[in-house]
Amino acid sequence: MPEIVDLGAYGEDFTANPYKYYAKLRAQGPVHRVRVPNGPDVWLVVGHEAVRGALTDPRLSKNWRASGQLGPAGEESALFTNMLDADPPHHTRLRKLVAKEFTARRVEALRPRVQQITDELLDAMLAAPDGRADLVEALAFPLPMTVICELIGVPAMDREAFRGWSNELVAPTGEEAAYAATVAMSDYLVGLIEARRKDPGEGLLSDLIRTSDEDGDQLSREELVGTAFLLLVAGHETTVSLLSNGVRALLQHPAQLAALRADFSLLDNAVEEMLRYDGPVETATWRFSSEPVEIGGTLIPAGETILVALASASRDPERYSAADDFDITRDARGHAAFGHGIHFCLGAPLARLEARVALRSLLERCPDLALDVDPGALTWRTGMLIRGTEQLPVRW
Ligand code: HEM
Repeated sequence: MPEIVDLGAYGEDFTANPYKYYAKLRAQGPVHRVRVPNGPDVWLVVGHEAVRGALTDPRLSKNWRASGQLGPAGEESALFTNMLDADPPHHTRLRKLVAKEFTARRVEALRPRVQQITDELLDAMLAAPDGRADLVEALAFPLPMTVICELIGVPAMDREAFRGWSNELVAPTGEEAAYAATVAMSDYLVGLIEARRKDPGEGLLSDLIRTSDEDGDQLSREELVGTAFLLLVAGHETTVSLLSNGVRALLQHPAQLAALRADFSLLDNAVEEMLRYDGPVETATWRFSSEPVEIGGTLIPAGETILVALASASRDPERYSAADDFDITRDARGHAAFGHGIHFCLGAPLARLEARVALRSLLERCPDLALDVDPGALTWRTGMLIRGTEQLPVRW
């Protein structure tokens, strides 16, 4: 067994800037044994090539139930009966039943509503008499949250409670709190699905209850709970950080900001560079080895937990020149921010649409937008899954 690298020992410095630690590990090789902050010992895969290889390796399973090593009691919950916790053929089936709702065309049809929500949020933000706001609270969180809740059909009045549970699940503050959030979330979704069964309304959830594909296949009750959970949490927690990390990068790189303001045709490329440079998902969700797997000369035994560091792939100098520079004109293609392989992010077209609309509107309406905080004073979300700050104070 290789020596364990204790990532937790690096403390806040690791959370605030994990890239330099990943660079060090990457220089030593693609596979390391690490202790995650407040967590177990796992295997960490770093570097562009090894990350992509790991994400397409069928021996790295996502089906925790088959691993015989279920984690916190919550993992037995129906919440985890979803495509991200499944291998083919179950994964293929679950993904196919929802994929048609997230095609680039279906998503593009949401543009007018995404623009309207953005405009309303910016109206409210810009009404602040002191010309200051927390951009996370004012725009980066409520935009994706409203879009995904409307899309799925979660009533407005339930959204605050949902936010609390969702935050706890992706960045747990403790085992007990995470378990309580799992139970609350599951109870809530079971109730919502029952209500929709009796009284179908607008939204994807009602469609999914009705949906069956051409073979007459349908989502079971458990699968409905798991799918609704996955879409809501994935739609909630990630785009927030794309917007906040992206705006922070722009405000800290004035020449890049000026270039974008001068030519909005760079916008789509700028969003890809934001995803590459400081993406919202630092490590992919846990995988486990269903058999012994050799990566880059290191043998990972069967039944081990594997974390794949997307953030290390996107900053790999072997793939991108000057990889630590933020450059909105570079070709950022091939970044790992949305994952790779069969679990590639289903919501990528939606996330891109939201980011493009929000960034353009924000920059157009705030010609003097600036950070209103010393970046060193920002607090970071806990854990290694979601990368982003809790707040982003700005002034205009
Ligand atoms: C910038 C925003 C987003 C980022 C960076 C992101 C990133 C990711 C990543 C890295 C994965 C793969 C995880 C793994 O392999 O372990 C993933 C999967 C997924 N994402 Fe996203 N995501 C974003 C937004 C969204 C949105 C808005 C939705 C939904 C509406 C969504 C739905 C999903 C789903 C359903 C999966 C699982 C796909 C599968 O297992 O086949 N994501 N996402």
